[in-house]
Amino acid sequence: MPQGNQVDFRWRGAFSNLEMHALHAEAFNTRLYDESEWNWEDLCAQHSLGWVVAREDDRLVGFVNVVWDGLVHAYLEDMMVAADARHRRIGVGLVHAARDATRASGCEYLHVTFDEDRRPFYIDACGFAPYGGGLMDLV
Ligand SMILES: CC(C)(COP(=O)(O)OP(=O)(O)OC[C@H]1O[C@@H](n2cnc3c(N)ncnc32)[C@H](O)[C@@H]1OP(=O)(O)O)[C@@H](O)C(=O)NCCC(=O)NCCS
Repeated sequence: MPQGNQVDFRWRGAFSNLEMHALHAEAFNTRLYDESEWNWEDLCAQHSLGWVVAREDDRLVGFVNVVWDGLVHAYLEDMMVAADARHRRIGVGLVHAARDATRASGCEYLHVTFDEDRRPFYIDACGFAPYGGGLMDLV
């Protein structure tokens, strides 16, 4: 496992749109969006139960968003770890911090959807139980 400094995992931790755009573009191989197209700060504040920010020496190295139904179901979205920080269990740390905070908020279920190739991460490493699901493309 690659070595690194201590990583701080923070529920509802602070982040800027600029650093989120950079992390997202790298994680999902997209172009760099700007604030007028994608305002993470406003969207998370308005629509999320919370999110987890992972920082190493103040640098944003990971993020996961938790959206919810307002009662018992919560859903992980936008799971990402900086490419040069991967395979240090930061991803698992993000999921477990999200799980703990979501449970403390009164939710009873934490859901995630993923492509089959991410199964070793979500099922084996993070501890999700396999469960059926579906996705409808609306575009
Ligand atoms: C998926 C991702 C968040 C994992 O982050 P990470 O910090 O490297 O994960 P961890 O170190 O906690 O991984 C623990 C274990 O999960 C498995 N795992 C990690 N990344 C994986 C991947 N991309 N695919 C399949 N299994 C993976 C491995 O078994 C790993 O153990 P190892 O490091 O000894 O091989 C990261 O690769 C990423 O940001 N990818 C791009 C964005 C993405 O695909 N997000 C998920 C969308 S559903």
